[in-house]
Amino acid sequence: MSIIETEPEAIEPPHLPIRVRLAGPRDCEELCDLLDNPAGAREQVLTWLESPGTTLLVAQSEMGLLGVAVLLTRIVPVPGAGAHKVVEVDNLVVRADLRGRRIGRRLLAAAVEWSRQRRAVQVEAVVGDVNRDGRRFYESFGFAAAHDRLVLAA
Ligand SMILES: CC(C)(COP(=O)(O)OP(=O)(O)OC[C@H]1O[C@@H](n2cnc3c(N)ncnc32)[C@H](O)[C@@H]1OP(=O)(O)O)[C@@H](O)C(=O)NCCC(=O)NCCS
Repeated sequence: MSIIETEPEAIEPPHLPIRVRLAGPRDCEELCDLLDNPAGAREQVLTWLESPGTTLLVAQSEMGLLGVAVLLTRIVPVPGAGAHKVVEVDNLVVRADLRGRRIGRRLLAAAVEWSRQRRAVQVEAVVGDVNRDGRRFYESFGFAAAHDRLVLAA
């Protein structure tokens, strides 16, 4: 299993070294524990793990999994310019009792680095309209709203 960052860095209190790596099937139970909706968590995690084009990065310490970033890779045709690769951060969740310690930022930085290594031209974030904290989290990292999308419920 490849490791995204080679040097573990300590998180703010309790100063545990964490590293970010790709998740696999053996992480299923712990991934379910990270999600807010226990009833649907298992099905959701299995779908992520099995879907081509979906990548899960996890932040890990000796306490176990601390957070997950769900990345969707899309190839977007560009008229006259071939195609571009776009990575969408579809979900990013940090263990509820460890929020505010820069774990989310570490995961997001690893996701951006992972995207750059795969020559993606853009990283997008999906945040619900009512999730103001989530929005501020991405904005504080440098993400900006783009108004080039129209959406229709299918
Ligand atoms: C959003 C989330 C991933 C942030 O992770 P985190 O580890 O708590 O965030 P960090 O400590 O790395 O914060 C980095 C920056 O984001 C911003 N931020 C983080 N949480 C915030 C909050 N609740 N309100 C406002 N800004 C916030 C701050 O600017 C912070 O920088 P600072 O530490 O200098 O103040 C986490 O709160 C979470 O799992 N929320 C539930 C799931 C969710 O809403 N995910 C995002 C949409 S998919």
